[in-house]
Amino acid sequence: MVSNPERQGKILIDKLLERDYDQGGKFIFISGSQGSGKTSAMLTFLDTVRKRYPEEKIFFSNTFNAPFQFTRLDEWHLMVQEDSGIKIIDRQTHKKADVPITYFDDYEDCYAKAKPGVCNAVFFEVRPMFAPFIHYLRSVNEWCSVFVDELSELAPINPSGKQWHYNKAFSDDIKECRKSQIFIVANSQARNDIDYRILSKVMCEIYLPGATRSRDSKLKKGCIEGLEENPYLGNHAWIEYNSKFGKIHFATIYKPNKKNVFEAVPEVDNPYPDLQRKKRTKPTE
Ligand SMILES: Nc1ncnc2c1ncn2[C@@H]1O[C@H](COP(=O)(O)OP(=O)(O)O)[C@@H](O)[C@H]1O
Ligand SMILES: [Mg+2]
Repeated sequence: MVSNPERQGKILIDKLLERDYDQGGKFIFISGSQGSGKTSAMLTFLDTVRKRYPEEKIFFSNTFNAPFQFTRLDEWHLMVQEDSGIKIIDRQTHKKADVPITYFDDYEDCYAKAKPGVCNAVFFEVRPMFAPFIHYLRSVNEWCSVFVDELSELAPINPSGKQWHYNKAFSDDIKECRKSQIFIVANSQARNDIDYRILSKVMCEIYLPGATRSRDSKLKKGCIEGLEENPYLGNHAWIEYNSKFGKIHFATIYKPNKKNVFEAVPEVDNPYPDLQRKKRTKPTE
């Protein structure tokens, strides 16, 4: 028997996945503790979108130096920016992975070369370039979907300098997705890792186990603590959308493959550029 919150959850998911020009795009935020299945939940969404809308182009932004989970999907397409220096390696052998890669030049070329109805996993030279790519997508005027793993890498809290302005531009783009046809799903472990200007544009929240509720959530305290995590049946979550909430279920856990685990490695991989040990020069006598 389906309980009331589960029935409501199904209604909300169907509403969320509608492609309606008057409603426009959506911005969905998935949160939960580490290992609660955020990336896995995103891939479930992605798989549903690609089956329901096979003509739509779908983009996935993975973090660097992390095992690919999207390779568990039936259909994926790896895309890397030309001359970016990014290497796709096999995590076991540390050698170049034997996988087909499509190289692209700029945002336009990336969109043109992306395949409809599959997970296009896109790697730009640096990860924050995904935000201006979303800006570009606004001009395309076609329904498309964007999935961002670890949103805090694109919209960090307490940005300084240029990043402050990038976050501002990104929050404007997210706001405008309502007027374009972009369906954005992003995730993060903690809400307080993300710039509030972006978080405040979230239209739908998905709470996995360990999530913290948004300030204006109508969900009762204690609801999240009661969520089930089951190795056979998958993870439960709450969905909150348009001031209504319901329970949903992510039955499939998309773990990284045991064999052929790939990752993307950026050319410059040094977060501490100023802390290099300087070469000593021998004093001349
Ligand atoms: N219900 C579950 N049962 C067993 N393992 C799970 C379950 N949920 C998540 N996991 C494991 O946790 C790991 C992380 O899942 P993932 O979707 O990457 O979570 P997150 O993105 O939240 O860190 C996966 O390797 C998966 O094996
Ligand atoms: Mg993850």
